[in-house]
Amino acid sequence: MASRVAVGIAGTGICAAPRVMTNHDFEKLVDTSDEWIVQRTGIRERRFVAPEQATSDLCIAAGRQALENSGLRPEDLDLVVVGTLTPDYLLPACATLVQTGLGATRAGAFDVNAACTGFLTALHTGEAFIAAGRARNVLVLGAESLSRFLDMSDRASCILFGDGAGAAVLRPHAETGRGEILRSTLGADGSGYDLIHMRGGGAKIPPTAESLAKGEHFIRLRGREVFRFAVTKMADLILEMVEGFDPADVCVVVPHQVNARIIEAAIERVGWSMDRVFVNIDKYGNTSAATVPMALHEAIEQGRLQPGKLVVFVAFGAGLTWGGTLIRW
Ligand code: UT7
Repeated sequence: MASRVAVGIAGTGICAAPRVMTNHDFEKLVDTSDEWIVQRTGIRERRFVAPEQATSDLCIAAGRQALENSGLRPEDLDLVVVGTLTPDYLLPACATLVQTGLGATRAGAFDVNAACTGFLTALHTGEAFIAAGRARNVLVLGAESLSRFLDMSDRASCILFGDGAGAAVLRPHAETGRGEILRSTLGADGSGYDLIHMRGGGAKIPPTAESLAKGEHFIRLRGREVFRFAVTKMADLILEMVEGFDPADVCVVVPHQVNARIIEAAIERVGWSMDRVFVNIDKYGNTSAATVPMALHEAIEQGRLQPGKLVVFVAFGAGLTWGGTLIRW
């Protein structure tokens, strides 16, 4: 059997959607307050796509930046994988729009839907292709236009989410010389499928005048139950990722930006301090599959990733799904 090719992160990119929605904007829509939202979630503002935009537009901008930062041309790509739960269309895949928009003429393209674990699932997939010798240059993205599926009269959900995209180019570690993926895991428990849910619009409840009137195409969640699951799962994943390594070597944890309180509780459970954790939920809210790559890009820009040190990604989301990745920067 051919030996496994070690995989590294060559470069990253980001695209925040253009329309800034502050907590005060939501005070005009539902019975809420800036104070409640900040205290309960850590969110101050989030970004929404413009009317003419959708997920692929955000992906193309983030992907272009990730390619530039990697020193690659679009035609160097072998594969484009988009993690999203809000593709432009149910058919074809968002990744095909990204492939053509970038001019990645040699690349295959497909989407993965693992909700907020979408980017880590795309990363895991891209890594596996390169590790197996099936691809050399893979663009992986996490991107969402969640604003299109928010019930703006439901205060329990509409204040939480935002739109954006993050991208990373994966290549053999021998080429990148940094960002080696050391370990990666994915998991799922579909018995929790209705904890975070968009019931309508798919094959089970196709869009009809009745399903639309009932708002079945909107995101609904049982936030308190997710909260409990999330804290335990995030903490367990961090510990699983660093097992056998010296935890003191971890320079930064890049968690799914679900809720600042969930992140803080998970880190407390692990016994670490928040100064090792990257949080940008205050600016973007929960952008589902996009949170980890957007946070990764900003953490790199702010010099939070130190050469030779360890970086941990953790995410969980609807499904339920979860994932973790350990990287040596
Ligand atoms: O990425 C995966 C998807 N994300 C999630 O699934 C979110 C995970 N869960 C959470 O982040 C938190 O559970 C929430 C932020 C959604 C809610 O925070 P909480 O501290 O768990 O609040 P709660 O659901 O226990 O609600 C407390 C109170 C309730 O009122 P009563 O019953 O105590 O009178 C809610 O009706 O807060 C009320 N409430 C609000 N008040 C003002 C719920 N949403 C709002 C709001 N503004 N936007």
